[in-house]
Amino acid sequence: MPSLRDENGDSETLEVTTLDQTTNAEVKLYYTVYKDLPVMTRHAVVTNTSDRAMELERVFSACFDFNTMDYDMVHLYGKWAKERTVTERPLCHGIQSIQSKRGSSSHNHNPFVALKAHGATEENGEVYGVNLIYSGNFSIEAEVDCLNATRLLAGINPTDFTWRLEPNESFTAPEAVMVYTDKGLGEMSRIFHRTYMKHLIKSPWRDVERPVLINSWEAAYFDFDDDKLVAFAHEAAKMGVDMLVMDDGWFGHRESDDSSLGDWYVNEKKLKGGLSSLIERVNAEGLKFGIWYEPEMISPDSDLYRAHPDWCLHVPNRENSPARLQYVLDMTRKNVRDNIFAQMYKVISENKIDYVKWDFNRNLTEVGSALLPPERQKEVMHRFVLGTYDLMDRFVKAFPNILFENCSGGGGRFDAGMLYYSPQIWCSDNSDAIDRLRIQYGTSFGYPVSAMGAHVSAVPNHQTGRITPLHTRGVVAMSGTFGYELDLLKLTEEEKDEVRSQIGEFRKYAPLIQNGRYYRLTDPFKSEVCAWEIVGNSQEEVLLNVVMEEIHGNMTVNYVQLRGLDESALYKEQATGRIYSGAALMHGGMPLPAEFGEYRAYQYHFVRE
Ligand code: GLA
Repeated sequence: MPSLRDENGDSETLEVTTLDQTTNAEVKLYYTVYKDLPVMTRHAVVTNTSDRAMELERVFSACFDFNTMDYDMVHLYGKWAKERTVTERPLCHGIQSIQSKRGSSSHNHNPFVALKAHGATEENGEVYGVNLIYSGNFSIEAEVDCLNATRLLAGINPTDFTWRLEPNESFTAPEAVMVYTDKGLGEMSRIFHRTYMKHLIKSPWRDVERPVLINSWEAAYFDFDDDKLVAFAHEAAKMGVDMLVMDDGWFGHRESDDSSLGDWYVNEKKLKGGLSSLIERVNAEGLKFGIWYEPEMISPDSDLYRAHPDWCLHVPNRENSPARLQYVLDMTRKNVRDNIFAQMYKVISENKIDYVKWDFNRNLTEVGSALLPPERQKEVMHRFVLGTYDLMDRFVKAFPNILFENCSGGGGRFDAGMLYYSPQIWCSDNSDAIDRLRIQYGTSFGYPVSAMGAHVSAVPNHQTGRITPLHTRGVVAMSGTFGYELDLLKLTEEEKDEVRSQIGEFRKYAPLIQNGRYYRLTDPFKSEVCAWEIVGNSQEEVLLNVVMEEIHGNMTVNYVQLRGLDESALYKEQATGRIYSGAALMHGGMPLPAEFGEYRAYQYHFVRE
């Protein structure tokens, strides 16, 4: 199971062993605390020490009791193209919970909850945050009892779950990460960010600047061939892009979303000369090469399905429900995983591939496995997640230098379990810069900026039809892994120049963005001025980002108050050379120009004198 790791002896673990003397179920609880971070993790291991089989029906990972109900429950709900929308509600008597029953952590609710004291803000007040390192069905619930006390539970969703333990067998529940601060939601998030950067993400890419990439999806969808991709690479190279990612559509006979998942061999009708020739040509343009996979899926129209119709999840005598015209592979089966591993290993090891996008584009239905006996069918949801983790583990070990990016219909599996294997996750299929303000804001509650896949895309935006300035799209995507997802050949010369200078700007800020401290300065759900900043770890510099959502010609001067600076220091704004004191920036605020124009964006870089 993915979990936090401690490479430098920064943590201590308390192990509590309990025994139910009636059933002989032994439960070990593991509490780990970290020296330099106000974080505690907990997970449980249940062992059957009896001489008969037993069935687990509920195994939560964390359980906390509070002697009051004076909290607001903050959580992140959503749907496709609108992931991680922040919402909050005061606790009330009874059970309030968020859950996934879809087989993955899902677009609908992120496995994250914060209980914040009434009146706590972004900057002040007590907050308890909990996040599960798990990518499957989960439940996080707060129950307020008749004495006004609150119990918070987080773990695998008991719905559709049982686990049979034979004598001496054990079951390990996922790890829950808990954060406490009395400095508000902003500090809670920064603690999660530091924890995940230091103890969760294990890719060697964690501390390395990520390549600026151009992705073929919104640039061409399924309509590409080798020449078109090389033309993208040629144009991208002139602008300073590092990598071309060939998204969906390169394998089997896939020309739309109706076929070929599971047939992971190159469509040579499309890519004439095969993959190695394409990669050579892309490399010759000076770009690295990345590729897209959806390993857990199978199309009914595929050689794999024709050969092994029982390899997808299914329930006898029931028809399978296709979603996006595809079924889900039975990841609980080792032979299925071995087949997918072998197919992908062949392509990746025989070609110069620097990056893999790992997608997952539907939820689980008809959740049954052909190999398990009836009494173990309710294990399938969890076994599926374990199977996926096993496959991912094999890949990250086989190809330690490949940059993996996770994805699930956009941000449907944006969770700490996935972050353990891949240092970045595509945030959302909604690439509209204005919607992204809110999606990235919500994502930042639990996850670092370095994890957020974000690209500049075309206008009118393909998901919303909205038109935003290229500069604004750049500012928003820079608070993420940064790249492009549009047909660069269609840009005007002026726009190409702008892209070139955008990439130059991004490279200047990349180390700060990846490693700095992230502050949400306004709430884009409430304010028309969306502002956020990233402060260097020694307060030596700060990058302030602002996007104006007002659409009326507002000629008043808006001031954005910065945070986390050294009040007594002087900071020079790099574009104008103007000097501001830290105190002035924090208490007075940075005055924004009173200008017209929709969706204007501003970016200011201040360096301490
Ligand atoms: C999902 C992803 C997209 C793209 C498509 C390809 O929707 O989120 O980025 O890769 O699949 O089918």
